[in-house]
Parts: sequence; structure tokens; C-alpha cells
Amino acid sequence: MNTNRLSTEMQNALIKQMTKENHASQIFLSYGCWADTKGYGGIANFLYRHSQEERNHMIKFMRYILDRGGEAKVEAIPAPPENPQSLTDCFNKVFQHEVDNTTSIYDLVDLAFREKDWATWNFMQWFVKEQIEEEKLALELIDKLKIAGGDRATDESLFTLDKALEAAADEVSLPQEATADNPS
Ligand SMILES: [Fe+2]
Ligand SMILES: [Fe+2]
Repeated sequence: MNTNRLSTEMQNALIKQMTKENHASQIFLSYGCWADTKGYGGIANFLYRHSQEERNHMIKFMRYILDRGGEAKVEAIPAPPENPQSLTDCFNKVFQHEVDNTTSIYDLVDLAFREKDWATWNFMQWFVKEQIEEEKLALELIDKLKIAGGDRATDESLFTLDKALEAAADEVSLPQEATADNPS
């Protein structure tokens, strides 16, 4: 009796996403090391925490595959890319990684829809929401750095930005939570 509730194609796609989340975790860890080496301890701390979030995402995919009677697989991940050239480059790349990951999430939603696999479709909605938050978080990094002066920012404004990111929350609010009293 086949007790795997996932199609072979779906299981493979979910395993691929596990690998992608694991890769993202390593990328942010390596960017964190780069920032740390440059002396930006706060930014490094932010990236380390973000790295853990990506690992958590990987675990969620692993758990889901197993809970559906499937076989989860931990695959090899490619080496992280080259170090960023600057803080602007670093934050732009963080944003781009999130956008690329959103594309993969959408592909999984699309596959679930085509297969009428509503359990996976429902599971994936958490990630659709999560990517709105992650892209917003990355956009905020870009905005904060721009306000600080971008690549021409003074040491003083970078010091302030670094401190702010050390204490920055990992969670951002969703647009659905906004009200007239609290639009931000
Ligand atoms: Fe993720
Ligand atoms: Fe992410």
C-alpha cells in the first residue's frame, strides 16, 4: 500500500525547496561573516539571525514531507557566492535572493494547484505570506542604507545603522494588520 500522500514530482520539488532554503541559510551566514570581518557587528548579527530563519524554513519543508508519508532528503548545497563588494551590494543581493526564492515558492504553489494537492497548496500559503515579510525586510535594509548615505555614508551614520540593525526585529507586520490608527 502506498502511504505517501505526495506525488513523486511534488516530493522532489519539496526536497529541492529544502535544499534552496538550506542554501539561503548558508549564503546569509557567509554574508554575516563578511560583515563581521568588516567591523559591522550589528549587520552581521542581523544576517546570522536571518540565516537561522532560512534553516527553520528548511526544517518546515522537511517536517511537511515526513508528515505526508514522504521521504525527506538532505542534499548537497553549492558553495555560497563571492563576498559582496559593499554594503549596498550586500543588501541588494539579500533582496535578490528573497525575490528568487519567492519565484520557487510560487512554482510550488502552481504545482500544487495543477495536481489539486490542496494539502500542499494550503501548507504553501504560509510561505507565500512569509515571502511578503522577507521581501519587505530586505527592502527596509536597502531603504535604511540609502537614508544613511549609501556607499558614501559617513562612518558615523554607518555606526548608527549598524547599531539599529543589531536591535532590529526579525518580524515585520503584514499589510493585513494595518489600520487607520496604526497604518505603519
Ligand atoms: Fe526562506
Ligand atoms: Fe528568506
